[in-house]
Amino acid sequence: CNVVVLLSGTGSNLQALIDSSADGENPARIAAVIANRSDAYGLQRAQAAGIATRVLEHGDYQGRDAFDAALMQTIDGFDPQLVVLAGFMRILTPTFVRHYHGRLLNIHPSLLPRHKGLHTHQRALEAGDTEHGCSVHFVTEELDGGPLVVQAVIPVHSQDTAASLAQRVHAEEHRIYPLAVRWFAEGRLLLTDAGPQFDGVAL
Ligand code: GRF
Repeated sequence: CNVVVLLSGTGSNLQALIDSSADGENPARIAAVIANRSDAYGLQRAQAAGIATRVLEHGDYQGRDAFDAALMQTIDGFDPQLVVLAGFMRILTPTFVRHYHGRLLNIHPSLLPRHKGLHTHQRALEAGDTEHGCSVHFVTEELDGGPLVVQAVIPVHSQDTAASLAQRVHAEEHRIYPLAVRWFAEGRLLLTDAGPQFDGVAL
């Protein structure tokens, strides 16, 4: 199963995916990593693992439609069955999202539907949440609103800060994202018209 990963930053989730695809029994194979910034550290992780990289600077394009069209063309050149957003800090157009319907995954650092958008750890603290975590979901046109695949939950302690939460949530991201990608690659995870299914059972 060819996977293309999109990112903008550090790429610690990419690293977790690279590490998990090193298991010979995992059918997920990362065909390429594409970034919208040439300084994204994730590109170096990809290169170190011998994975093809591409950079599309969004500033080089006249608007979102042109950028997304170029992005789609680059992605499709790798013929992926799955596209994975791993810290890709761009809002994607409806045309893009529809083109990859059922084969586009994202990870978000909150227990969706709580805390869509940015600054999720700080917002979880301010809301007095006793639990926090992260969510893998299929991407639809609603930002951070697509069907959930898997979540990891952590307790919020009274001494927690946004930084300490971010650290513990990240560790959980590195556990559940490779799982979800592997399930998809194994054909166990599917988005049907009725919603997401795991081993034929509705999620
Ligand atoms: C993660 O927190 C992820 O949930 C969010 O972007 C961050 C990416 O981190 N979508 P990294 O670049 O994988 O370290």
